[in-house]
Amino acid sequence: MEITHIRDTPRDGLLSTLIHDPTYDLTDDEILSLAFILFIAGHETTLHLISDSVFAISEGAPFNEPTSLAIEDFMRFFSSVLMTKPLFVRETHDRFRQTLKQGDKVIAQLIAANHDPVRFENATDLQTDRRPNAHIGFGFGPHVCLGMRLARLET
Ligand code: HEM
Repeated sequence: MEITHIRDTPRDGLLSTLIHDPTYDLTDDEILSLAFILFIAGHETTLHLISDSVFAISEGAPFNEPTSLAIEDFMRFFSSVLMTKPLFVRETHDRFRQTLKQGDKVIAQLIAANHDPVRFENATDLQTDRRPNAHIGFGFGPHVCLGMRLARLET
């Protein structure tokens, strides 16, 4: 396996840095899951946001200064990560007109929230000057996207 190989032969690059950092002393499983989240979650997502945005601009979406405003509505509109990982209910309670029982698995549909007409005026329209724009395309709470600043910068 590549991880075993890099353990024996340190080299430049993120994987080798993670493997050989004495502060963390990560197991192979931890390295593998970190590599997955950093390379796949950090790459595919931004790739889709950029390609969707380029497509929208090529179809005539206005892209004026400040471009950061437009990027937020591309994020909201396309929501390249459609939903969260599974979440588990900690305490039984009523929400959304139903009872959520302790231990139930819940997946939040981020794209649905980002197209909620109660929250966003003309929610089904792409508005590159939309302000305010409190979308949750990068998730929310303690597991909000670690790479959101990098993703915005790259886009
Ligand atoms: C447009 C690009 C991106 C989008 C739309 C996006 C979206 C998300 C979303 C929705 C979550 C939360 C998922 C959940 O609650 O289950 C998340 C988590 C995460 N993202 Fe991103 N992401 C993007 C780019 C990146 C980049 C560039 C990196 C790293 C280089 C990254 C690293 C992570 C990590 C490590 C988590 C897990 C955080 C945790 O569980 O504590 N993401 N991302």
